[in-house]
Formats: sequence, structure tokens, C-alpha cells
Amino acid sequence: MPSTPPSATTALVTGASSGLGEMFARRLAARGYNLILVARRGERLLELAKELPVQVQTICADLVTEDGLGKVESAIRDCPSLDLLVNNAGFGTLGYFWEADIAGQRDMHALHVMATVRLTHAALGPMVRRNRGGVINVSSVAAFSINPGNVSYCSTKAWMNNFTEGLDIELRHAKSAVRVQALCPGFTYTEFHDTLGVDRKGIPDWLWLKADDVVESSLRGLGSGKVIVVPGLVYKLVAALVRPLPYGIRKHLKRPFKDKRA
Ligand SMILES: NC(=O)c1ccc[n+]([C@@H]2O[C@H](COP(=O)([O-])OP(=O)(O)OC[C@H]3O[C@@H](n4cnc5c(N)ncnc54)[C@H](OP(=O)(O)O)[C@@H]3O)[C@@H](O)[C@H]2O)c1
Repeated sequence: MPSTPPSATTALVTGASSGLGEMFARRLAARGYNLILVARRGERLLELAKELPVQVQTICADLVTEDGLGKVESAIRDCPSLDLLVNNAGFGTLGYFWEADIAGQRDMHALHVMATVRLTHAALGPMVRRNRGGVINVSSVAAFSINPGNVSYCSTKAWMNNFTEGLDIELRHAKSAVRVQALCPGFTYTEFHDTLGVDRKGIPDWLWLKADDVVESSLRGLGSGKVIVVPGLVYKLVAALVRPLPYGIRKHLKRPFKDKRA
């Protein structure tokens, strides 16, 4: 995946109306990609499109609905130059699984898992036939452990990592040049915690990442074919220590700060 694409290549970013998705849009536009931007808040996408110096198509779509997914799948089919798909749209919930509203749990699985499956399937076939392109699945360091009050989030992000590693194995087996990545950020300044209703003050400053640093790490990692990308030194260390631990040890690990989710 070249860092500066040839002309007429396009990237599709879901959840581009704020946070990491918006930053992906800005950074990819600066690298010369034309863009297809997806989110429910269409007016935000139109505002962003006005600022970007490339061709931008905006799609107002709710990716937990059949209608929304269908719209984005059609856009992928209609774009033979699609070179990069960023499955970024996502959200968190609060509370023990059995106490949390089932609609939120269902929508989280629909968005993190099913939307990723459907859009990746639509994009990968043509990419493999052209033998170029890439898919970035925006996961989380939460994929490496489970915290009380965060079970569906950690589980869907762990699925994203497994799915991405599986695709990488298949692509390498098929001798394809197409690359996939699971991006695993830690706490990042975006609208995520506002939507979730969590006060950032409970989390120490040194744990926060900036969205542009996270996106730069991701795009650098894609260029070098890295499959699991963990931005930031602290989180690299945490991931390296926690990933190999057996469940018997991981289940006793506690967060080093107050984060009252459950
Ligand atoms: N911020 C963090 O600390 C952090 C850490 C690790 C991983 N992540 C992951 O990073 C990704 C991006 O989140 P963010 O931090 O940038 O948060 P954000 O600023 O809240 O952005 C979330 C984006 O997802 C979109 N979205 C949510 N539900 C959607 C739906 N049903 N259909 C279509 N789009 C939907 C939102 O757009 P609309 O509301 O306009 O639809 C928004 O553009 C998520 O997958 C999240 O899990 C975030």
C-alpha cells in the first residue's frame, strides 16, 4: 500500500462525522485519496467535505440497519477504484451485560461485527482481483482484556482482531498484495467518551492519545504491512504484557484508575 496513492484512488471511511474517522478523512485527503464518508450525521459529513481538497461523496447511513448497510455496499460496488476501507464507526456502552439495555448490546454487535463483515466482504473481492488495496478495522486495546461493564465492547473488539488476523492469513496464503490491519488504540481524545457519558477526569492525562497520532500510526503500519497496530509506547507495553497471559491471570487484572462502568 503506497503512502501516496496514484491519482483516482478512493478510501471509504465509516464513522467519519467525528473523532478518529474524521481524522482518517483529513489525513487520507492530504495523501491524495478521494473519499467516501459514511455516518448518520450527514450534515457533519457535508461540512467536512467542504474543507477537503479532494473529491468527496457523503453517505448518510445508519450501519446497524439493513437499509444503511445496503447503501454503503452499493457505493463500494460502484467504486472500482476503492483502495482503502476503514471500518471505524463504533461506540461504547455502560453496565453489566445483563443490566444493560439489550438494544445497545445488539446494535454494538451489529455495528462492530456485522457491518465490518458486510463492508469488508464487499470491498475485498475486487481488491484481491486487482491485487491492491487495504482494510483497516478500528479495534481497541480493549480487545486484549475484559473489564467489568465492558463485556460486549471487549468481545466485539477481540473478534475484530481475530477476524483481521484470519484475513491476513488467507490473503498471504492466496499470495495477495492486499493488506489488512486491526488498529488498537487506547484512550483517545474524540467524542467517544462524551457519547458514552464517561467523565475523562477519572482517567489520568498520561493515558490519553491524540487522534492524529493514532491515525498516523495506523497509516504508517499499513505501509509496512503490520497487522495489529497499537499506537503509543504505554499501550504497546500493556499489550505486550497482557496478550500472552492465560485467562486465569487476566481475570484478576484491574485498571490502575477509577472507571466506574459497571
Ligand atoms: N476514543 C477512544 O478512546 C477509543 C479507543 C479505542 C478504540 N476506539 C474506537 O474508535 C472508533 C471511532 O470512535 P471515536 O473514538 O472516533 O468516537 P466518536 O468521535 O464518537 O466517533 C464515532 C463515529 O462512529 C459513528 N457511528 C456510531 N454509530 C454509528 C452507526 N450506527 N452507523 C454509522 N456510524 C455510526 C459516529 O457517527 P454518527 O453518530 O454521525 O453516526 C461517529 O462518526 C470506534 O470504533 C471506537 O470503538 C476509540
